[in-house]
Amino acid sequence: MLCSRRICGPAAISSAVKSEFGMTSTKSHPSANPDDAQRFGETPESVRETDHYQQEYIEQFADRWDRLIDWQAREEAEGDFFVKLLREHGAKSVLDVATGTGFHSVRLLREGFEVVSVDGSPNMLARAFKNARSRDLLMRTVHADWRFLNRDIHGEYDAVICLGNSFTHLFRERDRRKALAEYYAVLKHNGVLILDHRNYDRLLEGTSTSGKSNVYCGKDVEVGPEHVDDGLARFRYAFSDGSTYHLNMFPLRHGYVRRLMREVGFQRITTYGDYQRGHDDPDFYVHVAEKEYLFDTDVTAI
Ligand SMILES: C[S@@+](CC[C@H](N)C(=O)[O-])C[C@H]1O[C@@H](n2cnc3c(N)ncnc32)[C@H](O)[C@@H]1O
Repeated sequence: MLCSRRICGPAAISSAVKSEFGMTSTKSHPSANPDDAQRFGETPESVRETDHYQQEYIEQFADRWDRLIDWQAREEAEGDFFVKLLREHGAKSVLDVATGTGFHSVRLLREGFEVVSVDGSPNMLARAFKNARSRDLLMRTVHADWRFLNRDIHGEYDAVICLGNSFTHLFRERDRRKALAEYYAVLKHNGVLILDHRNYDRLLEGTSTSGKSNVYCGKDVEVGPEHVDDGLARFRYAFSDGSTYHLNMFPLRHGYVRRLMREVGFQRITTYGDYQRGHDDPDFYVHVAEKEYLFDTDVTAI
C-alpha cells in the first residue's frame, strides 16, 4: 500500500513562500529569464521520472546552490572524513559522478587527488568549473548521465564518489541498478564507491520533517519536505530573496541501498551515519562499497 502524507514546512518560512505550497510552478526571482523556470506541471507530486533532474537544476537554482550547501559550514561539518576514507583505501584517482557545483571535486583537487568531475546537468557543471577557476584550479569536467557513464568515461578509477544526496534522483529500480553497475565498471578491481543519501527511513516513518542537515548548511534558505510517500520525497528550497525551487526525489531506505549494492557485486559495504560508525538515527547515511572480490562472502559490515 502506498502511504501518502503531506508535510508542513518549517514554521519560519514566510507567508509568501507558504502560499507557494501545492502550486504547479515554482516562484523564481523577478529579474530571471522566464524560460529558466522549473516545470512540474499541474500535479507536481506525479512527477516521478529519472530524467526530470535535467529540468530541476535550472540556471537560477544552480546559481543559488552554493548558498544552500554553504561551502564553509559544510567543510566544517564534514571535516576530513572523505579525504581520510579515500586515503585509507589507497585512492589516488577519483571520479566524482555527482559534481554539482564542485564542492567535493574542489576539496579533493586541493588535497592532491586526481579528479574527474561528472554531472548530467550542464548548469551545475558550468558552475563547478567556474568555482574551481575562482580558486585557481582547473577542473576536468565530463557531461554524462550515470546510466550511460561508460559511454563517456573510459578510464578506471580508484574511487567513485556520488555525494550530496544525488543517487535519490533515480526513480526506477532498473535505473538505480544500471547506475550502480556503471559505477562498478569504472572502478579498478579493488576500487571503492562512496555514496550518501538522506535518512529517508525516518521521513517515511514520520519521525522527522527536518530538511536541514550537515550537508545542506546554508543559513538563508529554508529546506523542507513538502510531500513524502513511498515513491516520492518532494523538497522545497525557499531562499531569503523570495525565490523558491523544488526537487522531486525517490526516498531511499538505507537497507535497500545496501542490498542493491550487494546485488550489483559489491561485497563489503560499510555504512556510516553522519560520518560516524554506529550512529543509528543520522541525518545522512554514507555507504562505502568495496569492489575487491572476497572469497569469504559473508563479511558485510553494518
Ligand atoms: C543534489 S545535487 C548534489 C551535488 C553535489 N554532489 C553536492 O553535494 O552539492 C545532485 C546532482 O546530481 C546530478 N544528477 C542527478 N541525476 C543524474 C544522472 N542520472 N546522471 C548524472 N548526474 C545526475 C544533478 O545534476 C546534480 O548536480
